[in-house]
Amino acid sequence: MALIAINLLPLSLAHAQSDPIYDQGEALYINPGRGGCGQCHGVSGNEPVMPLYPKIGGQSEQYLYNQMIDYREKRRKNGLYIPMEVAMQPFNDEEIRAMAVYLAKQRVF
Ligand code: HEC
Repeated sequence: MALIAINLLPLSLAHAQSDPIYDQGEALYINPGRGGCGQCHGVSGNEPVMPLYPKIGGQSEQYLYNQMIDYREKRRKNGLYIPMEVAMQPFNDEEIRAMAVYLAKQRVF
């Protein structure tokens, strides 16, 4: 069992580094000029600039994807939704998927 864990760890790290969708999601997420995600949520998604802002790194990919689509489509109207509705407008479904992949792989807070 221990042997399996040791063998799988470098494989999963290598996968995270060479996944083009992950790389695309990271680039989109940290780009300050479009969406500005990292400026509010932090690079890992878990260092929000205000305690009121949610930590989103390590959340499940499908949940993140659904929330981002809902904000973009103006279906999610709770709490502090306005900055998120604005932030999601420039992104298509594929770009939102890539950001969800990037965020889901961040360290859980
Ligand atoms: C101006 C600050 C700001 C910016 C820029 C911003 N966010 Fe947010 N984000 C928030 C706030 C505040 C919330 C909570 C909104 C609410 O109450 O519904 C939130 C919520 C979210 C959620 C839902 C979290 C949950 O637990 O349901 C996701 C996912 C998310 N943001 C991702 C992003 C991504 C990706 C970007 C860039 C495209 C981005 N955010 C840009 C402030 C921001």
